Amino acid sequence: MPDVVGLGVEAAQAASVIKVLQYDITDLDVDIIVNAANTSLLGGGGVDGAIHHAAGPELREACKKLGGCPTGEARITPGFRLKAEWIIHAVGPVWYGGGKGEPQLLDSCYRSAFHLALETKARSIAFPCISTGIYRYPKEDAARIALKVMHEYEKDFRSIVACCFDAENAVIYRKLSGPGGQEEDDL
Ligand code: APR
Repeated sequence: MPDVVGLGVEAAQAASVIKVLQYDITDLDVDIIVNAANTSLLGGGGVDGAIHHAAGPELREACKKLGGCPTGEARITPGFRLKAEWIIHAVGPVWYGGGKGEPQLLDSCYRSAFHLALETKARSIAFPCISTGIYRYPKEDAARIALKVMHEYEKDFRSIVACCFDAENAVIYRKLSGPGGQEEDDL
């Protein structure tokens, strides 16, 4: 990693491990794709549905053997037909107003995904904006939690992608992640 001090913002952007993209996560060529799953791990709508569709039927068969996953935790499977070698299924909290431990569960969800990722040789990982769709977690609050955990693991990866699907999340992540988040270079 070049010493970015004094090399200017462009170099700092290029050197940023954390990248914000507005993209379909199933098309990303990264080592690990994280899924916003539910506790059954058997698929659903949103990004869960997109990942299961793109990965193919073997994914559901593999997930059946996992026996579900509690909220705030994560499980890992192969990526099957995806470019990604692995899929980490992370179960975020449903938003009930913030008084039912949602922030701690969302933090735990990202942390659990990173703990599993560190057990592989992965160097690049992409996250959707977990819990901010069907689970209705406020987008900016969720982004702050996600980025805080991502920064803790920057040293362990070449690339950590916050993969936004909607423009609202992309604007929020870019605002919160600073100049490094503008870069859309190679993963
Ligand atoms: N690529 C990247 N992000 C996506 C994609 C995609 N192809 N499709 C949707 N998203 C985004 C949504 O826009 C949202 O910002 O993923 C984020 C998470 O939204 P959901 O997929 O609705 O997930 P979540 O809010 O965590 O709710 C999980 O929804 O799909 C079901 O089975 C899932 O029950 C679980 C629940």
